[in-house]
Amino acid sequence: MQIYLDTANINEIREAASWGILSGVTTNPTLVAREKGADFKSVISEIAELVDGPISAEAVSLDGEGMVKEGLEFATWHPNVIVKVPSTTEGLKAVYQLARKGIRTNVTLIFNASQALLAARAGAFIVSPFVGRVDDTGVDGMQLIREISQIYKSDPEIKTKIISASIRHPRHIIDSALAGADIATCPFKVLQMSMRHPLTDRGIEQFLADWKARS
Ligand code: E4P
Repeated sequence: MQIYLDTANINEIREAASWGILSGVTTNPTLVAREKGADFKSVISEIAELVDGPISAEAVSLDGEGMVKEGLEFATWHPNVIVKVPSTTEGLKAVYQLARKGIRTNVTLIFNASQALLAARAGAFIVSPFVGRVDDTGVDGMQLIREISQIYKSDPEIKTKIISASIRHPRHIIDSALAGADIATCPFKVLQMSMRHPLTDRGIEQFLADWKARS
């Protein structure tokens, strides 16, 4: 399973990219708005310089035609840009039109397996089921990944990839891989947490103490 970073923060992307673990980046309007005053095109172009993999940029139009128009513009910014559209019938129209023009899409805000199936049939490159937000409703979000994975695997025509999104903690990353996700898109903090273990810290301290005390 590949790891993407779910942020529009350049410092976080630069740091995680230096670890050699990043295969792509996802952004959304909320994440871009957090980078106060940043110009959308400049942010996406800068990310594309730092990470050599799919970079999702989200359209804000609600109608398919508007999404296609935005998507066509995003696609001129960098060849790695993926156009993110919401999981609506207008979003499906945009996916279908953009796919016919050779532009890859990420269908976001997926909350049930039928949305994922229809997105794939329309020609989505990636779908983004929101595991954490499903968990928040008291339902097992990871079950959604299992269902979509099973459906996609049973249909040889479907090449769409599954991004496990709305990741909240390190266990979500492990469970996403076990459930069949192709990618987990993670907040920077969750990636940092994933690498921390008190026994690792204690082990380093002990090794250093023994090294200093050697005769
Ligand atoms: C995915 O592409 C989204 O940007 C993201 O995972 C949303 O997560 P949230 O529920 O933490 O906002």
